[in-house]
Amino acid sequence: MATLPQASPNATLRAKTSLALLVLVTGLAACDKQTTASGESSAKTEAAASTETIKFVTTQDGSPLEIKPELFDTPAAKEFLVTGKNPYVGKEDAIAAGKKIFQLYSCTQCHGPEAGGQVGPALTGPNYNYAKDATNKGMFETVWHGTNGGMGAKGKGLMDPSDPNNGITPDELLKVIAWIRSHGQLTGNEDAAS
Ligand code: HEC
Repeated sequence: MATLPQASPNATLRAKTSLALLVLVTGLAACDKQTTASGESSAKTEAAASTETIKFVTTQDGSPLEIKPELFDTPAAKEFLVTGKNPYVGKEDAIAAGKKIFQLYSCTQCHGPEAGGQVGPALTGPNYNYAKDATNKGMFETVWHGTNGGMGAKGKGLMDPSDPNNGITPDELLKVIAWIRSHGQLTGNEDAAS
């Protein structure tokens, strides 16, 4: 008598178990995906909520330059961080303050009392050692992080690594730049984003 081969009860059980496992695993994987997806979307929402800022680069080699956003703590500094424009250019009060800050940080010693040049070059333009200094963003980066050819960084926390409170703040530097621009033909805001 020929008998048809039949699945043993054991084999049926195994098949059921593996099906159950498969369902379980698939379910877990789906769960996982959901978590990741919602994690991503909340990160995106956060990024959209915070305002875009300009990106700084060093004058030495054009590499990214991180400056803590909280250092931009005045309305003018905050505006500069977003637009790259220096709101103090042409403003008498800021220019007068900038002249004092220029003396305070010894810029005078190297660049002369009217920024016409001494040991260091003239800062009044329109031509610069570093072409980017024709823009306010470029000049800001040059003074903040220094140059390859003889000027150290003046930015807060960089001027004297042993004292993080030492150095020029973004607001002070914008006033200094406004004073420098008051001696030259450029406003520096002509091509603000470059
Ligand atoms: C110890 C001397 C010294 C002091 C202090 C100093 N500088 Fe300079 N600065 C230089 C020298 C030297 C250069 C030229 C560097 C180079 O070509 O790489 C320079 C270059 C610059 C440039 C670039 C000019 C260009 O032609 O592109 C700017 C802008 C500038 N200084 C601003 C300032 C400001 C603002 C201060 C004060 C916060 C200051 N410097 C303090 C010596 C100094």
